[in-house]
Formats: sequence, structure tokens, C-alpha cells
Amino acid sequence: MSNQIPEEVIEEVRKANDIADVIGEYVQLKKQGRNYVGLCPFHSEKTPSFSVTQEKQIFHCFGCGKGGNVVTFLMEMESFSFYEALTFLADRSGIKLPETGVRKESSLSIESQNVLSAYEWLTKLYHHLLRFTKDGKEGYNYFKERGISEESIDTFQLGFASKVKGFTAEFLEKKGFHQQVLVKSGLLTLHEDNSVSDRFSGRVIFPIRNHLGKTIAFGGRTITDQEPKYLNSSESELFQKGKILYNFDLAKKYIRKSSEAVLFEGYMDVISAYQAGVKNVIATLGTALTESQAKLLRRYVDTVVLCYDSDKAGTEATYKAANLLRQVGCQVKIARLDDGMDPDEYIKTYGPDAFNDKVIRASGTYMSFYMRYLKKDYNLNLEGDRIQYVENVLTELARIDSSVEREYYLKELSNEYNLSMDTLVEEIKNHRQNMGIHKDKREKKRYTNSATKYYQSKKLLPAFQNAEKQLIAYMLKDRSITDKVQEEIGGAFNIDEHKIIATYLYAFYEEGHTADVSLFIERLTDQTIKQLVTEIAMSPVIENISDQEINDYIRIIRAENNDMASIKTLKQQQRIAEQQNDPLKAAQIAMQIIEIQKQLKNTN
Ligand code: CTP
Ligand code: MN
Repeated sequence: MSNQIPEEVIEEVRKANDIADVIGEYVQLKKQGRNYVGLCPFHSEKTPSFSVTQEKQIFHCFGCGKGGNVVTFLMEMESFSFYEALTFLADRSGIKLPETGVRKESSLSIESQNVLSAYEWLTKLYHHLLRFTKDGKEGYNYFKERGISEESIDTFQLGFASKVKGFTAEFLEKKGFHQQVLVKSGLLTLHEDNSVSDRFSGRVIFPIRNHLGKTIAFGGRTITDQEPKYLNSSESELFQKGKILYNFDLAKKYIRKSSEAVLFEGYMDVISAYQAGVKNVIATLGTALTESQAKLLRRYVDTVVLCYDSDKAGTEATYKAANLLRQVGCQVKIARLDDGMDPDEYIKTYGPDAFNDKVIRASGTYMSFYMRYLKKDYNLNLEGDRIQYVENVLTELARIDSSVEREYYLKELSNEYNLSMDTLVEEIKNHRQNMGIHKDKREKKRYTNSATKYYQSKKLLPAFQNAEKQLIAYMLKDRSITDKVQEEIGGAFNIDEHKIIATYLYAFYEEGHTADVSLFIERLTDQTIKQLVTEIAMSPVIENISDQEINDYIRIIRAENNDMASIKTLKQQQRIAEQQNDPLKAAQIAMQIIEIQKQLKNTN
């Protein structure tokens, strides 16, 4: 084993971090029977095939095959090393890891580790300057004037970058950072005379934190009218704008609680809303919503409320973001602000309650947004345009599965444009037929989840293979069954992987462990075997299986074994007969082989 942290400590850390809690911080998990299911974070999917069991403390995805325990999950999810995953879990549960000689290997390059550490120091420095010094007073006043409280300044670690030349550079050099690294990472700007200065000098600072709460970039806003208004850190290994959402770390728990996220365009919108008590709030970083951000959101929520600026650019961006989110399977709601306003201005003008009640809670459906949005392309005073417009709306409406919802908008159209309901209903029906939508088929599909489908397809495996899997499933949860199997068939499983698992399992129990799948897979090094074990452990088993049933499995496995053994011997004899030029005997043996294979097929 590559670590020297005592077994008991690893065990303690694992026990203190329930797998459903930890994974629940990355995936919206829904209870289904004894397990939890959700959308797999390791591959793209629209129906959940990712399962987590608390009882066994493992996860498994029936779609992509990934599986493991809480430590493996974090190693996959965060690209953590074993040590990093363990440290993360220890911190999470307030356990102190003993100092060991373990090399604290990290998944990040040394340079990125340095940059990360520089960001941590700078976040503190900028914040301190703003909060407590004369140098930062203008930054402090700026936020005060914009109505940002001290509490929010602290929560978001807002700061100010000193205008004193060389101040930041000197601070970082004293902390032992090399100038070259700081310049390369874009924290410092190198001038022609070889002097360096703070890239954000004179700007207020919005630290951009990743989902673990670590600053990985800064957004710096001018407090005069310098261009650009916002200056962001440049992209790096640590910071990719398209993959991160501002304030995700703080918003996460509120997003989980409400199954809903509110998405903004600006940092200030997020901070104002958070201060106003709407806390499930995040923002993109000055670029259009990307597919990767949309998918990230989909893993956490059913519904995203889009709350973009109400100007033309904001409306266009809303349309694009809404469609992207719908494509990845999110429900979309759209908040409406007064003309030309952005959320921050709205809150400042009308106050937190109005924002909560009249904007967020009153947000409308995608369809009503779309009906408004589409109008911009038409002059609805002209009959021709009106017809076109209605046609376009109907095409979109036809995609909606809920007939109640469809009818609602049809009524709206019917009232607004004085069209008969019958005509509209008939039109929609045609559209749906042309689009090949058959309601029943669609709805049925939605309710078969992939795990069920998976087991249905696996039923087609040969009987002995199913028997081996089932038997291992029981062995994983019961030592006495394992002992019995060991005695009766030992390593004589027919599938090589099953043989390997059985061998490890015998050793595991012999070391004195009680049944514990999560601990067992901790010991396995081979990725394929690990995944196979989680898959098997997830298969449904009967609570109090009878000896009779276990015996049946053993019998099936043995029979296959014997048959395979006799076929092997017969094939050898057949070859000898051929070598001895005895075609009659060879043919007789061939017949015997066919006979056994036929029987095998029948019993399977
Ligand atoms: N942005 C940027 N670079 C710019 C302008 C904007 O990166 N030159 C990004 C910032 O992330 C900003 C977001 O786009 O938060 C929204 O821009 P905008 O609507 O112009 O800013 P506001 O959020 O309204 O900012 P403020 O209220 O401070 O003026
Ligand atoms: Mn604004």
C-alpha cells in the first residue's frame, strides 16, 4: 500500500463521512428504494444511472461502470491523490490526521500549487487593505455607496488592490514567491523597464472561488471609469471561465435545499441578491453560459431561474442560456425585471422583499418568455406577420409534453389573436404528428430507469455467469456464506474476474474483517475489478437467503466447471485421434462434445 497512514485512521475518516452526504455535495440524489440515484458526474446522461448505497457505503454507475467508495469518488471527481482525498474528508469531519512521512503528493503541478497559495495570500491582503487601511478606504467607500454591507464584504472576501507601486510585488516576494511565476500567472504585470506592478492596482477585487472555496482568480472592477470596467485574471490550469460559476461554493447548500438555482450575469448581482436573502445564487464570469456549466447545474438542480439584465443583450443571452439548459434537461424559469434594469439595480431601487416576491418567486415559464421574445422579429399589426408569429409559437408549443401546459398557452394565443381553440388544437396535433411525437412512447421511456434496464439486459447472461455474480453478491455481505463457498468451490469460478474477487474476499475475511464492501474495495488496486465489485454489490439480493438457494448457485457453477473440464479433455482426445489418423474416433468424440454443448445450452 502506498500510504502509511494507519489503517484505523483511514477507517475512522471513512466512517465519519457518509457517502451519500459527500456525493450529495456534487450530485442531486433522490431516494429510490434502499438506494439513492442521480445523474452520473462522470459521463453525460439525461436519465439517472448513478446509484449510491448508504448501507454499503459505495457508489456505482450502471451507465459508465465507474464505482467505488467515498475515497475513490473524490479521487475521480476532484482528481485528488489518495492522500488529498483523505485529508479533504478528515477536514470535513474534524479529524486530525497524524503527521506521517507520507509524501504529500498533489494532483496539481508545483507551479499551480504556488499560484494557488499566492492567490490565498493576496485575497487576504486585498481584503485587509479594504477593511482596515487608509490605502483601501476608497474601495471600502465604493462598496458602501453601492449598498454592500460589511458582512457581505467579509462573506465574499471583497478587497482593494493598492495603488502604491511595488506594494503587492514586495508583499508576495517576502512570502517567498518567485516573480517569474507571478508574472506568468498574470498577478503581476512586467513593464519594459523590468519593474513589476499589480495587475489590478486601484481596482476593487472580487475573489473568484472554485467549488471548494479556494480563490483561483480575481475580478477587478474599476472605481473610476477606467477601461475595461472589469478586468479578470487570465485563464490557466486553475482557472477556466467556462467551467466555473461565481459563488458556487457558498450557494451550493442553498441550491441543494431548494433544488433550484438562480443564475445571474454579474458578480454584483450575486452579492446583492445574497445580501437580500436569496442565497441560491451564482453567475457566469462575463461569458455566455457554456455547456459544461449547464451540465454542472443539471447535476444539482431540476430548475434554473435565469435572472439576466433586462436589456437587449441580456434578453438574447437569456434565450441562448435557456435553450442550453433545456437541452441538458433542466427546467427553466425566467425572471422579469423592469425595462433596462439589472438585478442589482432592482434590489437597490425596490428592496429585498420586492426582489424576492415580485422577481424570483414570480418568475415565468420558458414558453411565456419565448412568446414575448419572439415578438421582436414581427410587426404584429400586420396580418402576415401575425400568422407567421403564431405559426412559430405553435412549433415551439408542440414540443411541450404536458397537454395541460399546452392548452394553457393555446388559450393565451386564442385570446390574444382571436383564433378559435379548435383550430389551434388541430394545428398542434399536426405539428406533433409531423415531429413524430407519440405521447405514450415518450412517457413510458421516461419511467424506465437505467439500472432496471441494466438488470433486464443482464438477465440474458448465461446461467452460470449470473449464478457466480449472485453468489459473490451474497459473499460480499455475509462471511459465513463465503466460508461455505470457499470450502465447496474454492477458486473454481468460471469467469477469471470472479475467481480474482473470490480469492481477495477469502483473504479479506481471513484477516478478521467483517463484511464491508467499502473497505474491501479500498484494498483492491485494479480498477476493473473494483468497478465489477461495486456493480455486483449493487445488485438486488434477498435478505434471508436459504441454504437451498446458495446450494443451487454452487451446483450451477460446478456443473459448468465440470462440463467445461470434460469438453477440454474431449477436445484433447479429439486432437490425438486426428493425429493418429482415426477419423471415425475423432467424429465420435466431436458428437459427444456437441451433445454436452447442447445440454449446456438447454440448462442455461
Ligand atoms: N464583465 C467582464 N468584463 C467587462 C464587463 C463585464 O468580465 N468589461 C463581466 C463581469 O463578470 C460582470 C458581468 O460581465 O460581472 C456583467 O457585466 P455588466 O452587466 O456590465 O456588469 P454589472 O454586473 O452590472 O456590474 P456593475 O454593476 O458593477 O456595473
Ligand atoms: Mn450592475
